[in-house]
Amino acid sequence: MTQAQPQARPFRWAILGTGGVARKFARDLRAVAGPEALHVVASRRAENARRFAADLGVGQAAPDYETALRADVEAVYIATPAALHEAHALMAIGAGKAVLIEKPLAPDAAAARRIAAAADAAGVFCMEAMWTRFQPLPGALKARIEAGALGEIRGLDGQFMVANRPEPGVSLFDPAQAGGALLHRGIYPLSLARFLLGPVAELRTLGRIGATGVDEDSLLILRHENGALSSLRASLRANGHPGTWIYGTAATLEIQGPVWRPTGARLHPAHPGSAGPGGPRRLEGLRESGAGLKLSGALARLRGLIRPPAAIRAPFAGNGYRHEAEAVMEAVRAGRTQDPRMTPQESAEVLDIIDAARAAWAPAQGATGKDEA
Ligand SMILES: NC(=O)c1ccc[n+]([C@@H]2O[C@H](COP(=O)([O-])OP(=O)(O)OC[C@H]3O[C@@H](n4cnc5c(N)ncnc54)[C@H](OP(=O)(O)O)[C@@H]3O)[C@@H](O)[C@H]2O)c1
Repeated sequence: MTQAQPQARPFRWAILGTGGVARKFARDLRAVAGPEALHVVASRRAENARRFAADLGVGQAAPDYETALRADVEAVYIATPAALHEAHALMAIGAGKAVLIEKPLAPDAAAARRIAAAADAAGVFCMEAMWTRFQPLPGALKARIEAGALGEIRGLDGQFMVANRPEPGVSLFDPAQAGGALLHRGIYPLSLARFLLGPVAELRTLGRIGATGVDEDSLLILRHENGALSSLRASLRANGHPGTWIYGTAATLEIQGPVWRPTGARLHPAHPGSAGPGGPRRLEGLRESGAGLKLSGALARLRGLIRPPAAIRAPFAGNGYRHEAEAVMEAVRAGRTQDPRMTPQESAEVLDIIDAARAAWAPAQGATGKDEA
């Protein structure tokens, strides 16, 4: 006869903040960890917390953040504006809770390192909620790159650009709430470039500061330590086009869909006859002539038939947030204080680049002219 084993206690979360992303995260958390996982939600206003709890089936509604941190939970998800992440993270860490902190981990690298040091000293788990990192696709792509599928990596083009109307008080456009295109949007392609191409050795950058006082457009050019060059755009005012491209000597990798929610990828083999490996160099001269151009067009079509791009599928589940939640629960249950896929040190390193870009724009603002109100 077998004896019934005691059930492991459900993993319980507190959620700080009741904005849009907290709602999406809560839906995914419920789907992956069950209703007991949504233990308590806290707001600055009791009514907000009650509404959030009723809408999403959270067990308790706390009238302030301190009350929620006294609850019996394993982890705290911090979904407040970036300027408050440090204060809220230190409160949660001080209460001995694991923390999953919305991106950016902090408004600057120094604050990120203070959070990381506090978590270290308290021996609690700490991670930036860079949700895309935990979706299956980026890991699958990194494995292919490391296996040499692209040959030598030469560069990456990425962007996060969405046209918004500036509204006073909205955190994206508010310097007091650490708004700005680079910190809020550029951080996605920047973090992805750092993940797939490795550490950054050199930065060139331009930023356009709007009448709102935050950077509304930014352009970063990076040299990675492996020599590859990345070009990254972010905007709060203009729409871009979806897709991230990574260029290698053997193939080009096209990541489809917006950088914050990639839907799949395609590996385009390098053209034979170009500088790619083993290409017939004799075609180069022929291409220069008119007949050569026709021929090379026909060849390109033929190559498309013979060697179509290889599709890479690794879809995310739910809204895409459940993977980061699972990562936290797995690490905390195993007694780990970090996930190697997204360490606070790496988050701080990405913020070092953002800090350096902002410092580079500062003296130029007078010369290029901050946009008039
Ligand atoms: N991962 C993603 O897909 C994603 C998407 C969007 C944003 N984000 C990140 O998530 C965080 C929150 O973003 P959000 O768009 O949800 O932001 P938000 O609406 O500006 O703020 C989120 C919540 O923070 C609370 N809050 C506490 N103090 C506040 C203050 N002084 N001013 C304004 N709100 C305050 C509010 O909830 P209460 O009033 O209930 O306390 C508010 O609803 C940011 O770090 C952002 O970068 C992530």
